[in-house]
Amino acid sequence: MRTLDGLGDLHGRTVLLRSDLNVPLDGSTITDDGRVKASVPTIQALRQRGARVLVTAHLGRPKGAPDERFSLAPVGQRLGELLGRSVAVASDVAGAGARAAADALSVGEVALLENVRFEPGETSKDDSERAELADRLAALADVFVSDGFGVVHRKQASVYDVATRLPNAAGQLVQAEVEVLQRLVDGPKRPYVVVLGGSKVSDKLGVIDSLLGRADVLLIGGGMVFTFLAAQGHPVGRSLLERDQLDTVRGHLDRARSDGVKIVLPTDIVIAGEVSPDARASVVPADQIPDDALGLDIGPDSAATFATEVRAAATVFWNGPMGVFEIDTFAHGTRAVAEAMAECDGHTVIGGGDSAAAVRRLGFDDGAFDHISTGGGASLELLEGKTLPGLTVLED
Ligand code: 3PG
Repeated sequence: MRTLDGLGDLHGRTVLLRSDLNVPLDGSTITDDGRVKASVPTIQALRQRGARVLVTAHLGRPKGAPDERFSLAPVGQRLGELLGRSVAVASDVAGAGARAAADALSVGEVALLENVRFEPGETSKDDSERAELADRLAALADVFVSDGFGVVHRKQASVYDVATRLPNAAGQLVQAEVEVLQRLVDGPKRPYVVVLGGSKVSDKLGVIDSLLGRADVLLIGGGMVFTFLAAQGHPVGRSLLERDQLDTVRGHLDRARSDGVKIVLPTDIVIAGEVSPDARASVVPADQIPDDALGLDIGPDSAATFATEVRAAATVFWNGPMGVFEIDTFAHGTRAVAEAMAECDGHTVIGGGDSAAAVRRLGFDDGAFDHISTGGGASLELLEGKTLPGLTVLED
């Protein structure tokens, strides 16, 4: 993978920098600025080399047209605060506004283009539509730097196509993320424990499949666990359930048994009648969830078991919260895993936007873990051993 060192003299040159600034927002308030902070080192490195830095990024999933709710303006404001200088936000993605922003940039200055997903070409499956946008983006700059690790699994105009049009390199974040995650694929120290949670089992089946051949222990919690419990024949009440995945999950459980991989499912579950801070919660055995109940967190016994496994690991990777951590009543399982990771002497990696947001929301310092990935889907696909278009395009 080409890196910043190979880019030569950048003084006075305009660098188009793809960052992942896709942060959670409450109205226009950023509730977790982890990705904005993670974008800063590469921006500073480029500024120090005298580049004019034009950042392109997406926010959420607008439908290929400008939509005020998805404007990057609040992110530009936060980025400016972190950089200690104002960051102009262009009025469009790659039109007259972007051109004006690029022309106004002095050496060492930074501007942010509007949400690149306001253009239909960004996410189009049609190569020529992506090419049209990539041409306009490339025309704004001399060099392309890819630093949006969270999107390198997307074959999108600002991630993939633009890199084929300009001299390019990976930024420091992409480089660091790939180094850490590749170590988990190539030769993790054992025991290697993986904690998986989050709501959708269908998002995780690929990674589970590949982890069955690599990890020693898989701890499964979060909304996805109810498909596992149902696959074992247990009632799950009104909890999240992906019926169409039951057979695949049964297959994974059988394979784990025959391959000697330990899959640990919760033995108790926190249930309630509704997802609300005022809900009355109780704990039931995992195989006795009542018909009218929703499972919203792993129970205390399960949390203790998961924590014991995590503390004993030489390598831990964690993706996906154990419950509805946004509500205190259902945050205990997620907190227990985070605490055990913070105490673990092994190499600890947190993958995924939600897990990263969860640990910060629960008050953990980023420094309590060896690495917090900025990529959700991207980190899982890398662990799965998939080829990521946004990375291959940066290779020689
Ligand atoms: C993420 O949030 O994981 C990345 O920013 C990618 O976003 P996407 O899933 O909408 O492509």
